[in-house]
Amino acid sequence: MTDRIYARIAGTGSYLPAQVLTNEDLAQRVETSDEWIRTRTGIRQRHVAAEGETTVDLAYQASLRALEAAGVQPEEIDLIVLGTTTPDLIFPSSACLLQHRLGANGCPAFDVNAACSGFVYALTVADKFIQSGAAKTVLVVGAETLTRMLDWSDRSTCVLFGDGAGAVVLKADSETGILSTHLHADGGKKELLWNPVGVSAGFKPEEHNAGVRVLMTGNEVFKHAVKALDSVVEETLEANGLDRHEIDWLIPHQANLRIIEATAKRLDMPMERVIVTVDKHGNTSSGSVPLALDEAVRSGKVQRGQLLLLEAFGGGFTWGSALLRY
Ligand code: ACO
Repeated sequence: MTDRIYARIAGTGSYLPAQVLTNEDLAQRVETSDEWIRTRTGIRQRHVAAEGETTVDLAYQASLRALEAAGVQPEEIDLIVLGTTTPDLIFPSSACLLQHRLGANGCPAFDVNAACSGFVYALTVADKFIQSGAAKTVLVVGAETLTRMLDWSDRSTCVLFGDGAGAVVLKADSETGILSTHLHADGGKKELLWNPVGVSAGFKPEEHNAGVRVLMTGNEVFKHAVKALDSVVEETLEANGLDRHEIDWLIPHQANLRIIEATAKRLDMPMERVIVTVDKHGNTSSGSVPLALDEAVRSGKVQRGQLLLLEAFGGGFTWGSALLRY
């Protein structure tokens, strides 16, 4: 017995917009092929939000499902943390918009922007609130409409991303839950993966040939991602005195199948114990890890009591992991 308070995942939910864009569809727009996209990334299709459908709309649907799975009413939520890099508005935060939509008015609510690591960052913040006793029931969301800031004529980025959202309800628990979280960032490599416009820097479409769009040096990002994820996985195992074979499931950020395979290899994990959803929805940034987690739970793969390793890498650079007993 210990006095520690854990943040246990009480329920998960996710949502993908209805419209599907296949690799074949993209090959009609830019010089690419289904074969190139599949072999380089593992992606077969992505979902695209309908006109007028926003990040908060996706977050709302995912949250309703997570609340239902957890058996929690909106008025029981005492904190909302939402990871996104594509908020509906500059302000209020998407977390505030979501809070009102859910009818959870009154509790604190804020966004976390850590690009593709947004959900792992948000989960970490929520875990700290629960561990400290400041919150008992927390809604953590990762939601994005990344396709809104893509240059659809740039084949090096437009084939990679999609829209989607995932959510979890965390509850304070005396027995089990999140065991450790590990976050990192390196702001020194920003030009390798960024969207270089903004409020204070100015919306200057003429500079960087930018507009509001994702710019990426893909092969450099790839190398940094593999290295950072290797290191955070090692850090997580060491912090918990675990052998790599003790992990039941790897639930990675879904950016590229080859990056996922590299991390699995590092863990000496067969791909049957790795949750892969990137083929179905591409890189949904903050939405990716909770989407994969929800699929793993609802498909019956992940069982109560199992040890899960969540990890992500994204623009910033940011990266991190969470080890939890489900
Ligand atoms: N179709 C066909 N050819 C293409 C395409 C495409 N869609 N995109 C690029 N190419 C071409 C390039 O022009 C290049 O041609 P060249 O050799 O004639 O110059 C060639 O393919 C090879 O390009 P690379 O960029 O070296 O290809 P690579 O094997 O590295 O794959 C990819 C590119 C898929 C982007 C990979 O580097 C990757 O996945 N990187 C990591 C992305 C990532 O993980 N991002 C994480 C976070 S995202 C976030 O935080 C928002």
